[in-house]
Amino acid sequence: MAGFTLDEGDVGKGGFWDGASDMRKQETAAVILAAGKGTRMKSALHKVLHPIGGQPMIAHLLDMLDQVNVHHRVMVVGAGREQVEHSVSDRHVRIALQEPQLGTGHAVTAAMPEVPRTIDNVLVLYGDTPLITPEIVTSMLDARDALLADGSRPAIVVLGFRPSDPGAYGRLVADEQGRLQRIVEYKDANADERAVTLCNSGVMVFDGALLPTLLSKIGNDNAKSEYYLTDAVTIARELGREAVVVEANADALVGVNDRTDLAHVEALFQQRTRAEMMERGVTMTAPETVFFSYDTVLGRDVLVEPHVVFGPGVRVADGAHIRAFSHLEGADVAEGAVVGPYARLRPGAVIGKDAKVGNFVEIKQATLESGAKVSHLSYIGDAHVGAGANIGAGTITCNYDGFLKYRTEIGTGAFVGSNTALVAPVSIGPGAIIGAGSTITGNVKPDALSLTRAPQEHKEGWAQRFRDSRQRQKSTRKAAQAKRPDRERN
Ligand code: UD1
Ligand code: MG
Repeated sequence: MAGFTLDEGDVGKGGFWDGASDMRKQETAAVILAAGKGTRMKSALHKVLHPIGGQPMIAHLLDMLDQVNVHHRVMVVGAGREQVEHSVSDRHVRIALQEPQLGTGHAVTAAMPEVPRTIDNVLVLYGDTPLITPEIVTSMLDARDALLADGSRPAIVVLGFRPSDPGAYGRLVADEQGRLQRIVEYKDANADERAVTLCNSGVMVFDGALLPTLLSKIGNDNAKSEYYLTDAVTIARELGREAVVVEANADALVGVNDRTDLAHVEALFQQRTRAEMMERGVTMTAPETVFFSYDTVLGRDVLVEPHVVFGPGVRVADGAHIRAFSHLEGADVAEGAVVGPYARLRPGAVIGKDAKVGNFVEIKQATLESGAKVSHLSYIGDAHVGAGANIGAGTITCNYDGFLKYRTEIGTGAFVGSNTALVAPVSIGPGAIIGAGSTITGNVKPDALSLTRAPQEHKEGWAQRFRDSRQRQKSTRKAAQAKRPDRERN
């Protein structure tokens, strides 16, 4: 049968058994449908560019595809093409235009000029369904490759699921033998068909050689007058080919149509990420209050207290401790460091081994070397803080003059007293001490003491004299008031 004889056509495109892996070498193209108008989002941003876990939905799908055996990617877009094209420009995606949008079958037809003609499998995904996993797609590709009882391979693999509310999803209708007979759209379904709980997720894998034929036979004689991709199942069966169903967990297949769905998918993404983090050895005392980005990396034995937000680009090494109500983005935290409570790490924050960032401290574009401490109420920006340095409460690096940014260097083991303003560019030598309350505008030599302070006046007994005199004034006024008639008193 096709694909088993090793002839010239098979070499290069695969189609023969690979004895080692027991899998045929197959080429797969993924077609991502995203031409829908996304009207219900009520947004200037294309629907597939709305972020989940800090990155656009479409990027989640492309990341997923990086983990499966897919060789070509095509995206079908309509309105908002430029936005999408720009956002995937570095991801090896071909863009196909579908204008006007006449249904999912029509959308795949629009993609075909970008799909290699010799392709073995065409995987169809929806751009607005970003939580599908590599495991699910791999199991579909495996099902497409598995032999059926009659020795043939299925022409179509449909991804089915059982949502808690089947609503208006297409229904997967099986025959008496449990084989997939057809997919019926909700609007076209009768009462019996609507009672079916197994729904069409929309994700399908097609025999690439057959797909052009299937597409050419899809009509639009239905409730929506659209070209339904789902009709391909009936057409394949009429041609003597089978379609099979792979069933997946509904949570991975939730689509985004409006902002409520977007929040729901975000919640599912967070849930999944929290579970993965704990599986990898992260402790969270209240995981439901911790929020991650798509790329958060936490090491083993990291402890995350409640109400912590990880923006994009955060790495936390083994054994670090992120205390409650902290917000981190673009930050690197080394082993054993403690951050928070109520700390803010902004992009470029590098917190060294066993370093400490305490409450109400903001760090931006700054490195704290190992064991350095910024324990309270400070802003450290565009700075380098040497190992073991101690930055007192209320220290501010004055890094900006309204036009340009300047750097602050703080040497190893330096001690900066509380409420110090370090006016950058400035450098504090290793081992130097800065007196509390100073405004430092010039460089400080290693092991020097530097301070700027008005001399302290001392007036013996002044406070007591002040209190006595004020008390006398107050008593005199009260006595005078008591003598006046009632209506004049206040
Ligand atoms: C589709 C399925 C339905 C399934 C449901 C799952 C069909 C006919 N129906 O219905 O069985 O249960 O998805 O969510 O396939 N798109 C285009 N061009 C078009 C039309 C759609 O690119 O002309 C894209 C959309 O952007 C979207 C996807 O295809 O990403 C699905 O389109 P949508 O209109 O949501 O299909 P449903 O009616 O929900
Ligand atoms: Mg839909």
